[in-house]
Amino acid sequence: MNYSFPHYLHAKQSVDDRALNKDVVKALTASLPQRPIRLIEVGAGIGTMLKRLVYWNIINKAEYVMLDKSSENIEYASAWIPQWAEETGLSVERGGKNQLRVFNEVYDIQIQLERADVFDFIPKNKKYFDLLIAHAFLDLLPMPESLEKLFMLTNNLAWLTLNFDGVTTFEPAIEPALDEKIERLYHETMKTSGGDSQSGRHLFNYLKIVKAEILASGSSDWVVHAINGKYPQDEAYFLHFILHFFEESLKDCKELNVNAFPAWLKKRREQIECGELVYIAHQLDFLAGVNP
Ligand SMILES: C[S@@+](CC[C@H](N)C(=O)[O-])C[C@H]1O[C@@H](n2cnc3c(N)ncnc32)[C@H](O)[C@@H]1O
Repeated sequence: MNYSFPHYLHAKQSVDDRALNKDVVKALTASLPQRPIRLIEVGAGIGTMLKRLVYWNIINKAEYVMLDKSSENIEYASAWIPQWAEETGLSVERGGKNQLRVFNEVYDIQIQLERADVFDFIPKNKKYFDLLIAHAFLDLLPMPESLEKLFMLTNNLAWLTLNFDGVTTFEPAIEPALDEKIERLYHETMKTSGGDSQSGRHLFNYLKIVKAEILASGSSDWVVHAINGKYPQDEAYFLHFILHFFEESLKDCKELNVNAFPAWLKKRREQIECGELVYIAHQLDFLAGVNP
């Protein structure tokens, strides 16, 4: 299988669409200013959130800075955004380097594709954004210091979504003790790479530390299973990529038997092929009010 990160983010869309907490989405919609807004999405990947916000009619007139440190993601976004926009009937204009405009009589979104490390971008930014979005991103970062820096980007709202919260489950069980061990070791690798495998629950306290106000919160679990033997959309690829993350993170782990782990991966991959694998990851969403 060819493992491509932009393809994984593309395949993740339908899983995220189901997962995002709709009460938090409602609170976001109610809190947005009734005028064209300026928003920034950090760790934006290929721009699936932008597409979602247009499709869900949450934004219609906006300046959208889409920032990611990966040039592969930004290049993919630059080709893919015009594609889906035109398929939706929106007109597309390319401005200067990495500028796009997608519009019709209802929508007018000016997009700036910014390839940068967000922590290099923050000190150069001159004007607050109305909304900061961090989607499937905060659990990669050291906290709470990263939150404090990110909140320098907005004087209004932060929508912080899909923050992993310490529970991964694969069903059906292969060997309960081994399943549990692999899941635990995988969570530990998130900590050693600078993130937090319980970032969801810890955000309640981190948001308090940085003096933000929680306006809404709720769970946004990934729940992936086949329907009539087939996974929806491209979710079989999504599942294969999740197992690929496990393989990459744990292949040198001394605590795992050299034969047992590859055999476990093989069985899980077979379960995807026959539509048997169920995958659940517990995550939390927040809408926060931010005071400069
Ligand atoms: C798990 S992906 C999520 C992408 C996107 N939000 C989505 O869910 O489709 C995390 C993204 O954060 C980006 N990233 C990680 N650290 C970053 C940093 N310091 N500055 C900017 N982007 C970063 C990665 O390149 C990756 O695209």
